[in-house]
Amino acid sequence: MEVFPDYAALSQRAAEIVIGLLKEKPDAVLGLPTGSTPVGFYDALVASGVSLARARTFNLDEYLGLPRTHPESYYSFMKRMLYDRTDLRPENCHIPDGTAADPEAECRRYEEAIRAAGGLDILILGVGHNGHIGFNEPGAPWDGRTRIVELAERTRQANARFFNNNIDEVPRRAITMGIGTILEARRLLLLANGAGKAPIVQRLVEGEPTPEVPASVLHYHPDATVLLDTEAASLL
Ligand code: GLP
Repeated sequence: MEVFPDYAALSQRAAEIVIGLLKEKPDAVLGLPTGSTPVGFYDALVASGVSLARARTFNLDEYLGLPRTHPESYYSFMKRMLYDRTDLRPENCHIPDGTAADPEAECRRYEEAIRAAGGLDILILGVGHNGHIGFNEPGAPWDGRTRIVELAERTRQANARFFNNNIDEVPRRAITMGIGTILEARRLLLLANGAGKAPIVQRLVEGEPTPEVPASVLHYHPDATVLLDTEAASLL
């Protein structure tokens, strides 16, 4: 665990870890998150000017049924944050297709694509207020693979801010890497900032690992690091 004075420092540190990896391995396979937490990380990565020309990226999740062109699709988010701002090659940017005609087949294809790329060298994670990682909500199986999931009410409420504050517009289902998929990444980096995350960070760091707090599975990973700002760490 590392605690930083503020969000900018936390974001900078996360970017430096990824930049260090890319120096050693320019074709590294990066697992990437969405949400508000990683925005500073993406900004710092872009500002560094690091080349992603040979990197491969796999996103954690995507809403089911939301067109890629929708401004709140995770594809659109990634396009704004990274794809359009770096030299990443489009063919190396992977994100589940939430509009696939056969979503089950899409989940299998996605798992296979991660495997074919040699697995994730690093996976950056945010955490939901209920401890979710990707869209693995409380109770998700720890050996789960990429699959279709129902979003928890609390998650839909939290994400309504991106959908005109109207929960009815928030998709009900998503495709997410499973916790089993997540655990296979060679390195995990979980970021959390702000006082709102302090209670879940406390449960994650100090509580017994339990499927009720999906992020607590990090305790079982041999190379997992939690990066916090002082507010998120305030209850520790
Ligand atoms: C979203 C994403 C997660 C993310 C989490 C926290 O719903 N599916 O991958 O980590 O919620 O979001 P935020 O960073 O905005 O708090």
